[in-house]
Amino acid sequence: MVDAVPKSCLYSNIRLHGHPRVSTSMQFRGVALKPCYATTMEHACAGLVAEVTSTAFGDLSTLSREHEAESAINEVDNSSPFKKLKTESVAMSMDRIANAWKHWRKLGEPKLIVAPMVDQSELPFRMLCRKYGATAAYTPMLHARLFAECAKYRAGEFTTCPEDRPLFVQFCANDPEKLLAAAQLVEPYCDYVDINLGCPQRIAKRGNYGAFLMDDLPLVQSLVKKLAANLSVPVSCKIRIFPKLEDTLSYARMLEEAGCSLLAVHGRTRDQKDGKVIRADWSAIKAVKQALNIPVLANGNIRCLKDVHECLRETGADGVISAESLLENPALFAGYHLADATPDDGNPEDANETELDQPKLLLEYLDLFEKYPVPQRMVRAHVHRMLGNWFRKHPDVREELNKESKLSKDFLESLVRSLQDRNDRIPLVLHKS
Ligand SMILES: Cc1cc2nc3c(=O)[nH]c(=O)nc-3n(C[C@H](O)[C@H](O)[C@H](O)COP(=O)(O)O)c2cc1C
Repeated sequence: MVDAVPKSCLYSNIRLHGHPRVSTSMQFRGVALKPCYATTMEHACAGLVAEVTSTAFGDLSTLSREHEAESAINEVDNSSPFKKLKTESVAMSMDRIANAWKHWRKLGEPKLIVAPMVDQSELPFRMLCRKYGATAAYTPMLHARLFAECAKYRAGEFTTCPEDRPLFVQFCANDPEKLLAAAQLVEPYCDYVDINLGCPQRIAKRGNYGAFLMDDLPLVQSLVKKLAANLSVPVSCKIRIFPKLEDTLSYARMLEEAGCSLLAVHGRTRDQKDGKVIRADWSAIKAVKQALNIPVLANGNIRCLKDVHECLRETGADGVISAESLLENPALFAGYHLADATPDDGNPEDANETELDQPKLLLEYLDLFEKYPVPQRMVRAHVHRMLGNWFRKHPDVREELNKESKLSKDFLESLVRSLQDRNDRIPLVLHKS
């Protein structure tokens, strides 16, 4: 390690936010350069070289091992599919990294986060999850161009309230100007503006956004840079992994260097669409966490609170986000889970049946829906998700729901009561330990 350090560098091992980091700092022709911090000495040196270059004091000859540092810079460019991608510099702005952590700490370092879900992570659902332990939440993905241009779309798709914080507002986009115009409309109401880089659906392919931007990394870079340079709130990104780990790491580093202040990693590739069948790769998330300096969130395989603890331990991530399992059980982050849906490898006697169940959660959701109205399609989807287990036992109640074209609160409450009267409830359980 010491060999790789230019003679004129002062170096030290420090701990940055609890994680070991390497730092280098130096004077060049009597001028103090910004210190560089990185996970490896090579990257820290690379940062210094870029810093020297950018100061116009410019001759690299005083750096005894500059070719090694330069090759660290080139590392980003040489690995497929990043050949074409010219990152302007690998120099980390320490101010930005420090600010990313300062912001994260100011929000209380939220660890239990409601995932972005189209039509499903809307305000009343977010508020229900927050009541049961969620410490932050994403909005559903919003279409940046429509959001910027159409007041009706904005009013129908984005609502919030002062208690709805910390909040990530997520957009899909492929045009930096339009993304910025949309982001500027929400920045007073949120804690991060998030870019969706993970949607694998056909609609995203047609629209050229989400995970399909993994084929156009310079465009992704320009989206992040545009927001980072112009917004008062930090930019976050949510990605899927590449089949090759090196590509995922290069991608993640590029996002960090472009100005991303928090990265959520869904540990599945673009082609791994069925989250119920294919397990997310936590080892890839761990590698991203180790490679980056900004907060990293893990996504995938979170079905109960035990999974949360395991995921945080295995990946070292700063928080987790959960989607499908929260839709069935919005009380997941408070430790409740379905006895059958999440078989426990511990002692079954350890599980306590509770008074809480999905119909009760749905009634709470309906109260929130009354307070914070949202389009009917969102409510209908929640009823199906939250009562799915109960409908399997009582398909006649599901049919009753399907016949009703307009859902009133009264109708839904009477539907829930009719299920509760059947006397074979499916309780949520809590673990004693
Ligand atoms: C109904 C639904 C809608 C989703 N919509 C979005 C979205 O708008 N933006 C996004 O980044 N991911 C979206 N996702 C993906 C989730 O955020 C999450 O990455 C994925 O479901 C994996 O997490 P899980 O294993 O906890 O379900 C959606 C998932 C579901 C189930």
